[in-house]
Amino acid sequence: MTERNSEKVRELAWAKAKQGVAESRFSHCLYLLYANRRLRPYITRIVKRLEAGEFFSKTLRKIFKDYHQITVGRYSYGCFRRSFPPGTTIGSYVSVAEDVTILRRNHPYTRLTQHPFFYNHELGLVERDTIELDSDNPLTVGSDVWIGRGTLILPGCRTIGNGAIIGANSVVTRDVPAFAIVGGNPAKKIRDRFDPEVVAELNKLKWWERSIEELIAGDFPYLDDCNIKLLKSFTLS
Ligand SMILES: CC(C)(COP(=O)(O)OP(=O)(O)OC[C@H]1O[C@@H](n2cnc3c(N)ncnc32)[C@H](O)[C@@H]1OP(=O)(O)O)[C@@H](O)C(=O)NCCC(=O)NCCS
Repeated sequence: MTERNSEKVRELAWAKAKQGVAESRFSHCLYLLYANRRLRPYITRIVKRLEAGEFFSKTLRKIFKDYHQITVGRYSYGCFRRSFPPGTTIGSYVSVAEDVTILRRNHPYTRLTQHPFFYNHELGLVERDTIELDSDNPLTVGSDVWIGRGTLILPGCRTIGNGAIIGANSVVTRDVPAFAIVGGNPAKKIRDRFDPEVVAELNKLKWWERSIEELIAGDFPYLDDCNIKLLKSFTLS
């Protein structure tokens, strides 16, 4: 990338970041209107448009936290789906591709019957659910995670560590360690992204806790491959 281009990218990033810092002045009103289920798709669209999209919108984060019990960190995208189960927590700078499904509970397969008549209160036979709720087995996703297209995350996976990658069309049945690349059905480790000493340094740096403004101002070397020399070559103020 030429010097001029990189300056352009920087300018654009700044402009977007600044836009996102301000909540839209209609934020509270839109937040309240979201209580009306029929309006939800429209409200979501309007909020995204007014607040520079999913990367930045504070109102969208508040709506998802309060109405759907889904917590989404800064700059993460692809996570604002009502189909994601309540209790899901997603870190910052997370990329979620299309068609990702998260399931949090199994039918009670050790009982005489596993049919939902006998565990799902919405069907009228039992007063309250007789198996654990989605929110009893929440999924926690770290920061700077990339979840590939078509991934299916099953109840046996409770955490996905910082910096992990989940390959396209994976079926994830177990926890995914930080900075691992996993893939397949069932998902297995393909390799680690970095050596342990690089990971140790990243865990000290915790750049994902910084705002995009701080990173840009701090000369964050985002175009270089990550290695120990690079990590030692700069500091975040
Ligand atoms: C996981 C991924 C990042 C790995 O990329 P890569 O490092 O270039 O991997 P390679 O193609 O060199 O494959 C390395 C090995 O992993 C395997 N592999 C790669 N992706 C896989 C996947 N999704 N599931 C299972 N195995 C996979 C390859 O078969 C290969 O195995 P081998 O060494 O036994 O031959 C990539 O394959 C992927 O799935 N990307 C997601 C793309 C996507 O969903 N984009 C949506 C837009 S956000």
